[in-house]
Amino acid sequence: MNVVITGANRGIGLELVRHCLSRGDVVHAGGRAPAQAAELTALIRNAVGRLHVHTLDVANPSSVRAFGMGLPGPVHLLINNAGVRSRPDALSDRDGDDLTRAFQVNAVAALRVTVALLAQLRAAGGAKVANLSSNLGSIADNSWVAPTATACPRRR
Ligand SMILES: NC(=O)c1ccc[n+]([C@@H]2O[C@H](COP(=O)([O-])OP(=O)(O)OC[C@H]3O[C@@H](n4cnc5c(N)ncnc54)[C@H](OP(=O)(O)O)[C@@H]3O)[C@@H](O)[C@H]2O)c1
Repeated sequence: MNVVITGANRGIGLELVRHCLSRGDVVHAGGRAPAQAAELTALIRNAVGRLHVHTLDVANPSSVRAFGMGLPGPVHLLINNAGVRSRPDALSDRDGDDLTRAFQVNAVAALRVTVALLAQLRAAGGAKVANLSSNLGSIADNSWVAPTATACPRRR
């Protein structure tokens, strides 16, 4: 199976790379700075010809386009793993840019990468796209942000 994993240089993405390699997949791993992704590139040694590391900034449309154009098909599984956390630590620290960035990386980018790989996904016939999300993105399960809202200091 040919698998594409975004945000593959660390965290869950890196573990997904390890898992897919261990079961014999060919993995195309995307990361913003592969030259600094020592743990990821070290995996190539034991997976020669099965692990391909690509430069991919999912928030950058031209990076995504270039990735899509350079990737051989078919792709049987695309895992949109790259994500950022929008930190709600203090209401006064928010300026909206953090939310825009989180929305771009966590939501828009998954669509953008999927569209860029449509030809390769179609070539697989029955390909799957997995989008990693989180409780942090839940509209219904949002009670954990309440302390931030109630911590807003009163004006004197
Ligand atoms: N950890 C959890 O408990 C948990 C729970 C539920 C869901 N998830 C979801 O699982 C996914 C991975 O989580 P994680 O815990 O492994 O997070 P993490 O350790 O913070 O890793 C995030 C990954 O996304 C990459 N990334 C961020 N912005 C990117 C961009 N613009 N282009 C390309 N890559 C980008 C990061 O690359 P850089 O190194 O370049 O920043 C990193 O590789 C996320 O989608 C998250 O929402 C995590």
